[in-house]
Amino acid sequence: MKFFIDTANLAQIQEANDLGILDGVTTNPSLMAKEGIKGHDAIMAHYKTICEMVDGPVSAEVLSTSFAEIVEEGKKLAAIHPNIVVKVPMIKDGIKAIKWFTDNGIKTNCTLVFSAGQAILAAKAGATFVSPFIGRIDDSSWDGVQLIEQIVNIYNSQGYMTEVLAASIRNPLHIVRCAEAGADVCTCPLSSILGLLKHPLTDLGLEQFLKDAKSMQ
Ligand code: E4P
Repeated sequence: MKFFIDTANLAQIQEANDLGILDGVTTNPSLMAKEGIKGHDAIMAHYKTICEMVDGPVSAEVLSTSFAEIVEEGKKLAAIHPNIVVKVPMIKDGIKAIKWFTDNGIKTNCTLVFSAGQAILAAKAGATFVSPFIGRIDDSSWDGVQLIEQIVNIYNSQGYMTEVLAASIRNPLHIVRCAEAGADVCTCPLSSILGLLKHPLTDLGLEQFLKDAKSMQ
């Protein structure tokens, strides 16, 4: 399973990248706004900086909702860097645009996916990635990981090439369960990635080893 970081924060992207296990980055308009980025030029420059930091796909989301505008915006985003993946919402015009991008060699991430039916449409349109939002599903008392399992099964049995990108990750257990479910990619906040490191027996064991090592000096 590939690890993407789900943030537009450059310090967090650098920290995750320094671990040597980062395969890509996802952003969305809320994450970009949180960094205080304002205006077209600043947005484009920020995506370029991220692409220069991380050697892997960087999802940049369109802000338009009509077919013609999504295509125009997506073309500009894709021109920033070869690693840009145009992130398109799961709406009717979005699906049409994903098909257009597929036919024109532009990679896409179909976002705001909450059902297997939506994931089938994204795959039919040729999306590079599909992003089911598992944390938001859990927040509404459904099981987000179950949706990942269902989509992975459908894609495998139908031979769809779209990669299942588990999004809206809230904790390290989500990451473990998405790996079990066969997700191709998990996009995670830095805190969830770092949470995977934690185990009290590791800390206690290391403390003892270091103590015993000192007694041998
Ligand atoms: C990433 O592609 C999604 O936009 C993101 O994971 C959504 O996460 P949230 O539900 O925590 O906002």
